Amino acid sequence: MIPYPSVADLPHFDPDIDVLPAPTSVAHFREQVRSADGILICTPEYAMGVPGSLKNALDWTVSTADFRLKPVMLVTASLSGEKAHVSLLGTLRVIEAVVPEGNTALVRFARTKVGADGITDGPTLSAIQGVLENFLAAL
Ligand SMILES: Cc1cc2nc3c(=O)[nH]c(=O)nc-3n(C[C@H](O)[C@H](O)[C@H](O)COP(=O)(O)O)c2cc1C
Repeated sequence: MIPYPSVADLPHFDPDIDVLPAPTSVAHFREQVRSADGILICTPEYAMGVPGSLKNALDWTVSTADFRLKPVMLVTASLSGEKAHVSLLGTLRVIEAVVPEGNTALVRFARTKVGADGITDGPTLSAIQGVLENFLAAL
């Protein structure tokens, strides 16, 4: 599994610069997505929505369809997280990613369930292990 270094390197999405050649960081990001067998997204919720940096990264893949038919595992781990989770599922549907329900998890009150060494809450750990197994089986 290769963690993507930083979606913060991407410029803000602007259709006027969504032309070829793409900005270097955008071209690199798209290539990483395209060459991956699957994508694991784990995100918090900010201000009742998807963190802007993550949405921005996904927006850069719309015109090139890099997520098309790509298996995705989505974990939203936050205080509440539901709005971001639902919103992201909508975005992933639009960009034609493959996100079966068994590949997703919403972890509420994440701070009470995750410590420095990983997931500390038994049911959450089992749920994430199950989702991860489904995801790996889909690859
Ligand atoms: C500016 C800001 C806005 C936030 N808004 C939400 C929110 O709308 N819903 C939510 O579930 N959590 C919200 N949170 C809490 C984050 O989801 C939480 O900080 C996240 O789980 C990251 O965990 P950490 O702060 O322990 O790193 C917010 C946090 C910040 C800093």
